[in-house]
Amino acid sequence: MDHITAFQEYEQSALEAIVAAADAAALENVRIEFLGKKKGRLKDLQAVVGKVSAEERPVVGKAFNEVKMRVSTAFDARKKEVERPKTALSSLDITLPGTPVKLGKRHPLTQTMEDFKDIIGRFGFTVADGPEIEDEYHNFNALNIPDDHPARDPLDNFYLSAASYATGGLPDNPRLLRSQTSTVQIRMMEKEKPPIRIVSLGRVYRPDTIDATHSCMFHQMEGLMVGDDVTMAQLKTVLQLFATTYLGQDVQIRFRPSFFPFTEPSVEVDMGWGDDWLEIGGAGMIDPNVLKAVGYNPDEVSGFAFGLGIERFCMRRHQITDIRRFYENDVRFLSQF
Ligand code: PHE
Repeated sequence: MDHITAFQEYEQSALEAIVAAADAAALENVRIEFLGKKKGRLKDLQAVVGKVSAEERPVVGKAFNEVKMRVSTAFDARKKEVERPKTALSSLDITLPGTPVKLGKRHPLTQTMEDFKDIIGRFGFTVADGPEIEDEYHNFNALNIPDDHPARDPLDNFYLSAASYATGGLPDNPRLLRSQTSTVQIRMMEKEKPPIRIVSLGRVYRPDTIDATHSCMFHQMEGLMVGDDVTMAQLKTVLQLFATTYLGQDVQIRFRPSFFPFTEPSVEVDMGWGDDWLEIGGAGMIDPNVLKAVGYNPDEVSGFAFGLGIERFCMRRHQITDIRRFYENDVRFLSQF
């Protein structure tokens, strides 16, 4: 084999081995094989140079040195690469484009609830929370809804089967998904003494047939104010101020006489623009029986409560015509808000 071929073969396999070495240990093996001083491929190559004639030797020797230099340089460069610590910083490519994914947004209903808390908070209402899985006492009894009331019909509520939770005393104390946030009125008054001024926002569940304006799950904001001398005029003022702050100065609030077991008197609340009225919830003065159920004296304290449909406000504000859009999680819809 002549020396030219030997040089080429050596250089090519050395460079390939250097590039292929994945870590420091592999690279060290490559060094021993191709650049080792005592034995190995470089020694073999030196032997080839030793065999050429005296006239050729300067040229061949120079070529040998050049090959050796190129392989050593490649080796040193690769050594630096495999020894560089793999920190997050070194793997961060600052030449890549800035935000590779689109930033998400909060759901329009979440935005509405944040707005609601913000507005009602300015009237001194703090935010309270209550469980979505309720017992009949908090969903009905304490709210003055008697056993034979049609609202308690199992077909109009989502009762949980005994098997769906481990403890809780079924069948003596059945559980259901709350059908209204009024449950939080009871839970608050059980815990606190008046004065109370809270709102509670969250999901409620009713087995309604689903269409453009009905869903079997929707959101309510419950309001509760209890004190020495709370009046219906204050109730209407709070609702009027709330509605105009959220929807604009031209919105009117209207009360229509109604009935709820837990308020007396009770009203349906409409908001309107001219002749165009939309029902948005119920309200009233807390029934004395409810005050008694939580251990208050109805002769000493009074209070109002209201329950508003959050979807309705959001739909009106954004001209959304179908309530189902909120729950389909279609980003083409959601990204518009
Ligand atoms: N809980 C009632 C409903 O869901 C609304 C309401 C709340 C009425 C508070 C009066 C007082 O229909």
